[in-house]
Amino acid sequence: MVRTVFVFVSLLAALVAAVPHPFVVHEAINGAPEGFVHAGTPSPDTELTFRIGLVQNNIAGLQEKLLVISDPASATYGQWMSTEEIVEFTKPSAATDAAVKEWLAENGLTAATTSIAGDWLSITTTVGKANTLFNTKFQSFAHPETGKSFIRTLAYSIPASLQGAVEVVHPTVTFPNPLGGVPRLTASIGKRELNALEKKDLERRAIPASCATTITPACIQAIYGVPTTKATSSTVKLGVSGFIDQFAQTADLKSFLTKFRTDISSSTTFALQTLDGGSNPQGRNDAGIEANLDIEYTIGIATGVPVTFISVGENTKDGDLGGFLDIINFIQGEAAASRPQVLTTSYGQNENTVTRAMANSLCNAYSTLGAAGVSILFASGDGGVAGSQTTSCSTSFLPTFPSGCPFMTSVGATQGTSPETAASFSSGGFSNFFAQPSYQSAQVKSYLTALGSTNAGKFNTSGRGFPDVAAQGVNFQIVDGGQTGGVDGTSCASPTFAAIISLVNDRLIAAGKPVLGFLNPFLYSSAGTAALTDITTGDNPGCGTNGFPAKAGWDPVTGLGTPNFAKLLTAVGL
Ligand SMILES: *[C@@H]1O[C@H](CO)[C@@H](O)[C@H](O)[C@H]1NC(C)=O
Repeated sequence: MVRTVFVFVSLLAALVAAVPHPFVVHEAINGAPEGFVHAGTPSPDTELTFRIGLVQNNIAGLQEKLLVISDPASATYGQWMSTEEIVEFTKPSAATDAAVKEWLAENGLTAATTSIAGDWLSITTTVGKANTLFNTKFQSFAHPETGKSFIRTLAYSIPASLQGAVEVVHPTVTFPNPLGGVPRLTASIGKRELNALEKKDLERRAIPASCATTITPACIQAIYGVPTTKATSSTVKLGVSGFIDQFAQTADLKSFLTKFRTDISSSTTFALQTLDGGSNPQGRNDAGIEANLDIEYTIGIATGVPVTFISVGENTKDGDLGGFLDIINFIQGEAAASRPQVLTTSYGQNENTVTRAMANSLCNAYSTLGAAGVSILFASGDGGVAGSQTTSCSTSFLPTFPSGCPFMTSVGATQGTSPETAASFSSGGFSNFFAQPSYQSAQVKSYLTALGSTNAGKFNTSGRGFPDVAAQGVNFQIVDGGQTGGVDGTSCASPTFAAIISLVNDRLIAAGKPVLGFLNPFLYSSAGTAALTDITTGDNPGCGTNGFPAKAGWDPVTGLGTPNFAKLLTAVGL
């Protein structure tokens, strides 16, 4: 009897073990993105850390509400959601949570929860086990231009029973951008003589003549009317994203402030927050142009606003996008009172190197932080219509990510002062993943009408248009590794715009009003557009075309335009 039962049980066990989970392909791509080459099979013992995004309760409901509370015309404008309310929308159902954890347990894996709502899990395992778990064969892909290599696959599967439970697994088929968003050294910005009219215009506007070709904090203050006085509220805060190999240097910051902000203490510095084993080593050889630029121009412009450098480390092992997510989940998990109300990130990549599932999941994460009252700004990219860096493209323009996400604010670049004109590298265009949000549809429609048949067939007229706004981005003077030099890029524009938004937030907080939070519906409103200087000249060439021309109103080079501090205060009722 006992024996029979035993046999029965062991037979059943054998049966269960023998029947494989029916797998379904969850995501697949045709090949590695441009710039990557297949570089063999990694050792099965290599460790990998994956983030698993679970299907959320009601993210559409959160986004619907977010579009109301961020609309200045709404009665509930500025009533940002509490953490509890956000969690209600974003947590997975109990059944989803249990099903995924059961599957992992069957494979001997215990997941760590990496978001407060439990919608993101993390597992660390080996390539060999991951190959079984996701019914795939992970490969090594090298990126010869940077000498970096990454473990990715071209397709992965999940058990059919989990199709409605798992949104995305990363890193799998989304490749990183090993070039990051690093700004370029200013090549040969012409030290041309200004003509008499230009000189007169600058004099009238009290802008130093040098600002026509060389940007310092004083130029930003003069061009955009930014106050030099200190922020006064006790809770205003600005976050700066930092990634692998980009370290912000306190010695460089000190030299920068000594040189360019003689009116404030040169000891003004940033707070450091490290994630995923991040660090921020100090030393001439650790200087990173991007990190130094971002820190020098947030601290250098947002006078008196505490700045936190959030450094994401090597543990992500996958370039940028896992780190993007970890920063969002980290900030979301902070107490509301200690969160930065503005986050600037000068990294990005071409939209066609990110899968729809990954793009959606990250965009959803941005919407949850926007709902919490955090303004999320990203540099739009430096390749004109050809993507985040100049990429070869023949048939279609290459929109950048995350600029296509409708729940963040994309910042393009300008140059010069008389008039301020589009910087030719300023990425802009239309997403192929995200539809045009209603807050911009009128302005985008006007632009497309004015554009006529130019570039027809090279971009998606129904996609979300970007950038939303712009700021100066050419020949920013920075101190890096002890040297002063000029850099160009939308990487200059995003921290500049973010610093200005932080100063507006400071005034709002001091007046007992809510902070700006998710910016776009405000920016595209009549009050918002009135607070921006429309840029109407220049274009962003690429892909063998002149790109998009800047025009009156919104355009996919400079968005709605550049900030005017006094008008922004008026627009928010101060
Ligand atoms: C164009 O954008 C729409 C809206 O986001 C999208 O549904 C469609 O797939 C895009 N078309 C192409 C060819 O990518």
